[in-house]
Amino acid sequence: PKRYAVIGNPVEHSRSPFIHEQFGRQTGLALRYDKIKAPLDGFAGAVADFFAQGGHGLNVTVPFKEEAFALAQAHLSERARLAGAVNTLWMEQGRLHGCNTDGVGLLHDLRRLSHAPAGKNILLVGAGGAARGVAFPLLDAGCARLHIVNRTAQRAQQLRQQVAGHMPRLAASLSAGSLAEAGGPWDIVINATSSSLGQTPPDLPAGLYGPGALAYDMVYAPRPTPFMEQARRQGARQTADGLGMLVGQAAASFAIWHGVSPDMEPVLHALRQQLL
Ligand code: ATR
Repeated sequence: PKRYAVIGNPVEHSRSPFIHEQFGRQTGLALRYDKIKAPLDGFAGAVADFFAQGGHGLNVTVPFKEEAFALAQAHLSERARLAGAVNTLWMEQGRLHGCNTDGVGLLHDLRRLSHAPAGKNILLVGAGGAARGVAFPLLDAGCARLHIVNRTAQRAQQLRQQVAGHMPRLAASLSAGSLAEAGGPWDIVINATSSSLGQTPPDLPAGLYGPGALAYDMVYAPRPTPFMEQARRQGARQTADGLGMLVGQAAASFAIWHGVSPDMEPVLHALRQQLL
């Protein structure tokens, strides 16, 4: 079978092998999908070895997405270029290609949750790599307004400028500020901070959530995250964690490699069961 892998450090807990094996079963494609733990200073070498040994495709996870971007510099998709990071690598005619499917993964999941971003007012919390990866796709999907807030307001402004520079025609719908300036009401509030890895949610003011609003945490966990709990207290109608985004980005990588779009729903269901 063709060989694929997720490469990261740490990588032990990655769900990608399970997801891609399920997709393979579902679509009748034979594949092998491993985990590769690359040394922190040995990413490029590990990638070269994998493809030299006949590997077909790699998913890239922390902390290597920016390095993967640099490696595939000559053949990047528009999405990867805008995100400044790569999570999907493959070879075409002997050349390394890179794409970033995290943003489309989020879009797939928002649609699945019946909160397609088109025409919506969206608050994006956070201004690191995770936020950058989804800001362009959200704007591109036609949201009415995207406001970026961050604990360090200056980083939110920097991200706004970066995004606006790449997408001048959409710059008018984009603004940025501090957490305290989050305003509202919003249709969708997305947590792209790493705060859920700790126990405290980002320090967001009340009054953010409009009627029927969705609070979405890009992190996933067996139980509702601190951000999701805060959102419920503050009146969000619906909350979701990022497990669906994980499956969505995997589905988009699978489609790049195999030319077939798998069905997210059964795999998401199985993953949720495993988490509980
Ligand atoms: P990533 O690539 O996961 O986005 P990052 O670039 O380190 O990682 O960015 C982390 C993001 O989470 C930042 O927006 C950070 O805010 P600062 O720019 O002010 O550091 C945000 N963050 C982390 N912990 C947070 C917390 N407890 N409350 C609010 N924001 C937090």
